[in-house]
Amino acid sequence: MATTTTKSAGSRARSGRKRRTGRRDPLAITLLKKDHREVEGWFDEFEQLEDDSEKLALFNQIATALKVHTQIEEEILYPEERGDVEEDMLDEAYVEHDGAKKLIAEIEGMKPGEEYYDAKVKVLGAYIKHHVKEEEQPGGIFAQAKKGDEDLDAMGERMKARKDELMGQMGGKRAN
Ligand SMILES: [Fe+2]
Ligand SMILES: [Fe+2]
Repeated sequence: MATTTTKSAGSRARSGRKRRTGRRDPLAITLLKKDHREVEGWFDEFEQLEDDSEKLALFNQIATALKVHTQIEEEILYPEERGDVEEDMLDEAYVEHDGAKKLIAEIEGMKPGEEYYDAKVKVLGAYIKHHVKEEEQPGGIFAQAKKGDEDLDAMGERMKARKDELMGQMGGKRAN
């Protein structure tokens, strides 16, 4: 998957502001970052597994978490941040989500032990880590959202409710 992203160079290098370290993140950002750390940990865990049924169980957990997370960003964060966050950056994020979803669907159509199964999970993990970095890096989507006008604490409350709802829907049956 060789997607090249165009970066607007320069804008990131100088930030006229003092660094605000130790500042609490608003709820929406806190929740999304928590999801990121959780799923990154699961990808690392996956690499240690040898048992196929354990691999399948953990991958299903990863897939559900990623589907819920991307849906929440696509339903709430990304559209509501249009205007506060650079258009190009949001467009690229949607495209990266689509790439991840295709790979997830491919893996779901396979069984652990099949040729390329582990490789595909590993590539998905690398792909997600790249995407997450772009969201969290200085000047990235989260940073721009934090400087914008939206109430990210209130948005976080809505995200939480939506996440519960989606987890409930996806928990029982295989989501597709
Ligand atoms: Fe995302
Ligand atoms: Fe994210």
